[in-house]
Amino acid sequence: MDKWKYYNITHKLHVLCNPLSEAKFEKFCQLLRLKPRGQVLDIACGKGELLVRLAELYRISGVGVDLSPYCIRDCKEKHRKRLRQSSITFIEMDASRYKPKPGEVFDLVSCIGASWIYKGYLGTLKALKGITKPGGLIAVGEPFWMKEPCDEYLTVADLSRDDLGTHRENIQVGEGEGMNCLYTLVSNHDDWDHYETLQWLAVDEHIQANPDDPDNEELANRSQQNKETYIRWGRETLGWAIYLFRKT
Ligand SMILES: C[S@@+](CC[C@H](N)C(=O)[O-])C[C@H]1O[C@@H](n2cnc3c(N)ncnc32)[C@H](O)[C@@H]1O
Repeated sequence: MDKWKYYNITHKLHVLCNPLSEAKFEKFCQLLRLKPRGQVLDIACGKGELLVRLAELYRISGVGVDLSPYCIRDCKEKHRKRLRQSSITFIEMDASRYKPKPGEVFDLVSCIGASWIYKGYLGTLKALKGITKPGGLIAVGEPFWMKEPCDEYLTVADLSRDDLGTHRENIQVGEGEGMNCLYTLVSNHDDWDHYETLQWLAVDEHIQANPDDPDNEELANRSQQNKETYIRWGRETLGWAIYLFRKT
């Protein structure tokens, strides 16, 4: 089945497409204290909640880039409903090919939960640093190992041990790039359960409402496999945090 359709169905009920609670997200946005008309770039912006919320709080301008046509449609609708002025542009494209205009640098650049775009966490930090103003902020959402993953989990989840670091390593990697880690927001079991189990609910609702969808069997199988992987291993093994750095 089309991957963007799959993602749209599984994340239909999510406001944030990552394991961060909406309360923690709001605290994070409040803490950023951006200047009015600050320039923000959100790579893999999902449903655009970060940019729209920052525009509501600080009247920033910005750009959101995402490859999913469903996400960009949701972003534009959210922008129309919640922001009077057109301060944010949403672009549907592969973010690895996104280039800011010549000389354009941002006050805040974020990539929350999509570091594969830059071939991993370190690549993401380097790429974002290159388009952030000196003294500007970089926010990256990244998983981390809470404990050593077992081989069975790595195989089923199609991960390798070296794909991720520990929480400490994620901070150290950014600081090794000459940035100062200012703040971290770590998801707990409750946050993760909300993120994962909302997908179970959304899949069930889709199948109930669309019994003739030819993709239902694949959808149900994939959802069942993800559910099992999460409750058997992921819940105890995988952490998630947003790391906020200042480019010095
Ligand atoms: C885990 S979600 C995070 C979305 C958003 N940052 C959030 O936290 O709500 C990952 C996002 O990456 C987007 N994505 C995946 N590959 C991409 C690519 N090559 N370029 C741009 N966006 C991409 C997906 O469409 C999805 O919205």
